[in-house]
Amino acid sequence: MSILQTTQLNIPAGMIDFGVGQPSLSLLPQAALKQAAEHRLSQGDASFLQYGAEQGDGYFRLTLAEFLSKHYGLPVEAGQLLITSGASQALDLICTRFTQPGDTIFVEEPTYFLALLIFRDYHLNLVGIPMDENGLIVEALEEKLAQHRPVFLYTIPAFHNPSAATLSAERRERLLRLSQEHNFLIVADEVYQMLDYTTPPPPPLAAHIDTNHVISLGSFSKITAPGLRLGWVQAAPARLEPLLHAGLLESGGGLNPFTSAVVQSLIELGLQDACLAHLKAVYQQRSAALSAALRQQTPGLSFVEPGGGFFIWLRLPEGRNAQEILVEARGRNVSFQPGIKFSSAQGLQNYLRLSFAYYDTAELLDGVNRLAQVINKDT
Ligand SMILES: Cc1ncc(COP(=O)(O)O)c(C=O)c1O
Repeated sequence: MSILQTTQLNIPAGMIDFGVGQPSLSLLPQAALKQAAEHRLSQGDASFLQYGAEQGDGYFRLTLAEFLSKHYGLPVEAGQLLITSGASQALDLICTRFTQPGDTIFVEEPTYFLALLIFRDYHLNLVGIPMDENGLIVEALEEKLAQHRPVFLYTIPAFHNPSAATLSAERRERLLRLSQEHNFLIVADEVYQMLDYTTPPPPPLAAHIDTNHVISLGSFSKITAPGLRLGWVQAAPARLEPLLHAGLLESGGGLNPFTSAVVQSLIELGLQDACLAHLKAVYQQRSAALSAALRQQTPGLSFVEPGGGFFIWLRLPEGRNAQEILVEARGRNVSFQPGIKFSSAQGLQNYLRLSFAYYDTAELLDGVNRLAQVINKDT
């Protein structure tokens, strides 16, 4: 890594890397954030430069609650929100406060590969629950509950990373019932809930925090910009309590008060809504273009067209290995994430994940051309 590296990305020149699950630089709202920062810095109140309230600035939480109420279509209250440095940091905090090394947690198979790294940092015992195109298979969950007592289930209920699946309304109900019967927590990572392009998802699992069995996570990374490092936990106040007493918050105060204040202006000025609408329009086009190109050029691959989110999850014919294909693909300047990364059990070898968030339509089509040459070679 160069000492002058700025972003997490390091894509070799000429490569189209479908593995990148981040927005294009051109989609990051510099002008809107400039306007929001100027608005906030001209209020004559420097409080947001002080150590912040542990739960996050109360006025920001009020503004965020109003924004979420509108976009979730259900009442959200400021007292249910804890401000975080993104969903990753929220997951880390949940592990710190709710788990001990060796505890069992359930994850989806596949699941968000970088969450697996966080869970491994805490030496948790991971048990995978299979999914299909309607999300987590609840019968399989029930079977695993007969063998294990998980502290929590980590699920991505809307426009899943990597599978793009959305948990059906019926399965949500059954999942909620099981969480109460077997007394485990559902950690619902709902970062893609607002990014629907063709099919609105059911209401978020956040609608059920009053059961005391749901903690919902959200983030500005997907609806504004990842560099803000700003997100939230939504839970019943009794569930937030242990998180609030983390040493991290007692020492450093609430997370990201400066960014929260700027994003408060972004929301108040209507710029956040505009940003979300723009992202949805762009991603919708990219998603449709990538799906159409794949259908046309790689008929040997099967996938469910995404209704939202960032990803397409491709299935190779049985017996083919995405990691082997990746080596050849990189030789042709195209890359992706192999399925095995998303498995807690070294499985899913005949899957691969593509993202349409980073490249424009022309680049996506170019990437599919390159990929098709590799994939179609042996079929
Ligand atoms: C399901 C899921 N959760 C969390 C994250 C990371 O979120 P944040 O940037 O808020 O830490 C991602 C990013 O790819 C994601 O796909």
